[in-house]
Amino acid sequence: MNYKIRFVNPSRNYQMIKDEIDAAYFEVMTKGDLIDRDQLKRFEENLATFVGTKYAVGLNSGYDALHMSLRAAGIGRDDEVIIPAHTFVATASAVVNVGAKPVLVDVGKDFNIASDLIEKAITPKTRGIIPVHLSGYMADMIRIMEIAGGYNLVVIEDACQSLGSTMKNEDSTRLKGAGAWGVTGCWSFYPFKILGGYGDGGAITTNDPDVALFARRMRYNGEDRETGEYHGHGFTCLLDNLQAAFLDVKLRYLPQWIIRRKEIAERYRAELSEIPDLLLPHYNDPRRDHVYQNYTVRSKQGNEFSEYLKTHGIEVLTQFRKPYYKHQALNLEDQGFPETEALSREVCSLPMNVEITDEEVDYVIATVRSFYGK
Ligand SMILES: Cc1ncc(COP(=O)(O)O)c(C=O)c1O
Repeated sequence: MNYKIRFVNPSRNYQMIKDEIDAAYFEVMTKGDLIDRDQLKRFEENLATFVGTKYAVGLNSGYDALHMSLRAAGIGRDDEVIIPAHTFVATASAVVNVGAKPVLVDVGKDFNIASDLIEKAITPKTRGIIPVHLSGYMADMIRIMEIAGGYNLVVIEDACQSLGSTMKNEDSTRLKGAGAWGVTGCWSFYPFKILGGYGDGGAITTNDPDVALFARRMRYNGEDRETGEYHGHGFTCLLDNLQAAFLDVKLRYLPQWIIRRKEIAERYRAELSEIPDLLLPHYNDPRRDHVYQNYTVRSKQGNEFSEYLKTHGIEVLTQFRKPYYKHQALNLEDQGFPETEALSREVCSLPMNVEITDEEVDYVIATVRSFYGK
């Protein structure tokens, strides 16, 4: 369908920063710097600084970041890993693909894992927790780190949707970024993400030098690039140098782009908050900061609402109408997760990107209001 308002608009975004992206392209192409060169190292340094960790290691997807983190933690056969029932399927697939069992836990009203349900899911086989910071809003990492500490569990943050989001640290003295709490933070640079590349991309961030070294070797088929020694059977999952050069340009814009996202979220809130059948993603936790990678509302009218927006030319996402654990081929245990099931019927993410104009935001608002007869 030819939408009047796109969910994200990569070509318009490119026009906004064309000179710098073109310069990055010409630099890489004229030097012929394709694999593991300065641009990748620069981006990794800048990403680590942005997140607040010592190291970042570029990989070729968010899935690989999760997979690599589980391997670095030595999680495998006979282990259990706790994950939220509401997330993108890759969180679960990474656990299954290292031979471990994902144990699902329901989410709360903020779409993130309900921390008060985690302890009930812990068994003697539990080795780790993967909290997912969904849509730009962190899971309650203070509580999760406390639980993990009590049971000696590894925490791997699936921060693929939340670059730039923060939570106040344990004693509220400073803000601590998503991806700086667990043994690793896992990032995706899929084009729809808040830091989206021009194709697939990913990274881990970590403070652990051994984990960083493990990922650097394993992304390169296990090889130490300086000595040529293989340190295990690895993978080919390195972030392309060209992609890193583009991402480094975009990372410089991220702080101002987050401000713009918050402005759009405020416009939505100001105009839509009095509609009783619509629940907006604004939460009253002064410790946590939402960066609105997605502006996901819950409409009691479910598909009727999302279809109405689509037929009026607005591209919306309804992730995920069918929870991943209900897909038979995935062979996961459906224990009945009431919050996940309720929100799956109702979710609808409105256009949220830095390319959108104020007039387009107003059109989205007017269309939502007209659906509700306002
Ligand atoms: C929460 C979450 N986890 C994992 C991933 C996987 O990232 P990728 O698509 O880069 O493999 C994504 C993004 O698609 C995601 O949103």
